[in-house]
Amino acid sequence: MALKRVFVTYRLPEDILRPLSGICDLEVWTGNKPMTPTELFSAICDRDGIICLLTDEITRSLLENQEKLNFISSMSVGVDHIDVAAATNRNIPVGNTPGVLAETTADLAFGLLLAAARRIAEADKFVREGQWMSDMPWSPDFFLGKDVHGATLGVVGLGETGKAVARRGKAFGMRVLGWNRTQKDVEHVELVTLDELLAESDYVSIHIARTSETLLFFDHERIMSMKKGGILINTARGGIVDETALANALKIGHLAAAGLDVFETEPLQARSTFLNLKNIVFSPHIGSATASTRKRMAELAVENAVAAIAGRPMPFCVNPEVYRSR
Ligand code: GLV
Repeated sequence: MALKRVFVTYRLPEDILRPLSGICDLEVWTGNKPMTPTELFSAICDRDGIICLLTDEITRSLLENQEKLNFISSMSVGVDHIDVAAATNRNIPVGNTPGVLAETTADLAFGLLLAAARRIAEADKFVREGQWMSDMPWSPDFFLGKDVHGATLGVVGLGETGKAVARRGKAFGMRVLGWNRTQKDVEHVELVTLDELLAESDYVSIHIARTSETLLFFDHERIMSMKKGGILINTARGGIVDETALANALKIGHLAAAGLDVFETEPLQARSTFLNLKNIVFSPHIGSATASTRKRMAELAVENAVAAIAGRPMPFCVNPEVYRSR
């Protein structure tokens, strides 16, 4: 029997791909940039499976034309770049990489929180640009920020990453409030309504997935119902926060600051109004970016592909219902 044909959209290290050698006919994208939609379409035509990244948009129309495609394994926990409903319609399992990036992403969320609270990025720029001069070596109101210890942290979404952020908040001596779409008891977290969380939290950290229900979840009304002087942290997904409403709340001083790792359009556009706001700390979608976590994510993506090639259910599958109808 001919070997299954599998395409990988990024040059993953050879040792990571090794479990696939000999069990499939593997082809790896060699370009230095992410694939364009046309390249992606022609690359997966006639393939049995694809290992992809979150920058690869697997749309409904792309899937409509695939007769052979039998699995999609994404090296990401979020799968909003894939039309999962369309894949499910065609009985295509979609794999992801849960459970290995929560702590790493929580570290970044907390890093952004500290940086936004204590204006670390702004202060770094001030020193680097030679603005720290002997006529103002120190003063009582120089670079005043906000305390983290003793403040209230609101965690929106109590999945693995939300819980990991809550633990960090507790360890910093914060009161931790939490809200989840479905009722969940979490140690050290006071469960409250979303309205209560927004009204009482000095810091709000977002940890919900982007779905059709959570698009613009943080709209003008929710942002304005946050406590005055609050700080918003988003390491989940762009599109969950209305960026115009957030920029406005930061401009008028309703919010003191924001720490953002994810954006509606990535990379962040040079014309984005965010770039003119000093009270935002940015990072370029690097929540899971440590060498060991990225290695684990790649290993899980390959593990999913190995299972699919062998005709077994993927161990980490977001639409396991496809196996029932197979
Ligand atoms: C990162 O954003 C992921 O979804 O893995």
